[in-house]
Amino acid sequence: MQNLDPTPRSARRKGPLKGLAQIPGDKSISQRAIILGGLAAGETRISGLLESGDVQSTAGAVRALGATLTRDGPGAWRVTGAKWANPKEPLDFGNSGTGSRLVMGAVAGQGVSAIFVGDASLMSRPMARVVDPLKAFGVTYEGQGPKALMPVTVHGAKTIKAVDVMVATASAQVKSALLLAALGAHGVSRIAQATLTRDHSEKMLAGFGAKIWVQPQINGGEVIAIEGPVQLKACAVEVPRDPSSAAFPLVAALIVPGSEISLPNIMLNPRRAGLIETLIEMGADITISNRRTSGGEEIGDLNVRHSQLQGVQVPAIRAASMIDEYPILAVAASFATGETKMLGLEELRVKESDRLAAIAHGLKLNGIKNWIEGDNLIVEGMGQDHVSGGGTVPTHMDHRIAMAFLTMGMASQNPVTVDDVTMIATSFPEYEGLMLNLGADLA
Ligand code: S3P
Repeated sequence: MQNLDPTPRSARRKGPLKGLAQIPGDKSISQRAIILGGLAAGETRISGLLESGDVQSTAGAVRALGATLTRDGPGAWRVTGAKWANPKEPLDFGNSGTGSRLVMGAVAGQGVSAIFVGDASLMSRPMARVVDPLKAFGVTYEGQGPKALMPVTVHGAKTIKAVDVMVATASAQVKSALLLAALGAHGVSRIAQATLTRDHSEKMLAGFGAKIWVQPQINGGEVIAIEGPVQLKACAVEVPRDPSSAAFPLVAALIVPGSEISLPNIMLNPRRAGLIETLIEMGADITISNRRTSGGEEIGDLNVRHSQLQGVQVPAIRAASMIDEYPILAVAASFATGETKMLGLEELRVKESDRLAAIAHGLKLNGIKNWIEGDNLIVEGMGQDHVSGGGTVPTHMDHRIAMAFLTMGMASQNPVTVDDVTMIATSFPEYEGLMLNLGADLA
């Protein structure tokens, strides 16, 4: 799978990275703010919205379903909700798995029918994980083959009964789709999940006036109960900065000798903070100050200094809290001494690319010994000065593969090239400017 008009880029070693990294808004929260705002009565004011390709795709879909969206300035948007109606055209979600899957749940809750399409990457991702559980809410659908690939048509039922559903996959997208469908159901729905995945939907739904409560379970999982039908009420949403985007300059500073950067106002929701926990275990010099709450989320200021890292074992139970961070962790592990074992990575196979395969291949192309055992990835670290680099990495239309391997090239002996940087704009359009500003060499 390749972008038809690719833009390659190479990163090479230069001096230390220094300065302030102003990270854009969180992608997960931005998507949810647009969707919930589009369903709510009244005007939702959003500040700090991420204006990336994925968020624009979701905004386009929510507009096509009937809501009004206005941009007042950088990151400042107003969304006026409406009763959703069947869109005239297919909803094109571009590269956005989160946008498409959450809106599938939302249309189900509104009794709306819509066709979902996307780019070549999204069209190859399984939608069965979302539309099959949605059948409990009376949804019918047509998709392509047993994985229900796009184009997928979702038909929401006219009358929806509340249900109890167990989410089998460790996916916040699936959980969120079910919660959004339950908004239109009569009675209390209970959505159970054995793995604790990101909880932004639950928090934001409460902020928009939904009756929602979380019941922790003795097995470590939880049940989220939500009472419908609900008319959400508009509110103000302050989007915190994205820890998954922060991860790239953060690891760059750890592996480029002499670096010191600061990253203010980064979201530190414990269900998103697995990478920081892991890097600190590896010996990373990361200080977190000024911990506070903003817009219902924990945030803090990070200061990061170059560090010699050591390999560690990353337990499977931590995977959900750093699921988007394994490409960049694998790069950090390449510069560490000793082996890093990352356990329980099955979900990586169904991301914007088969990330497990893409990481393993990219590492190999740059002289890093690694192997996959079942769902685990083991990387043999070379130590700070011994990563050869020199490879040209296929990114498979995956923004995080592109940013991870550019990061490698900032500290390896030879430059690292990625075949396409176009997709970086789906999550972090400011990436290149921000890295150049810190002193990176990207050309
Ligand atoms: C997301 C959930 C994760 C993550 C994705 C964003 C979300 O996907 O990989 O980038 O906003 O809910 P899964 O829920 O499929 O793990």
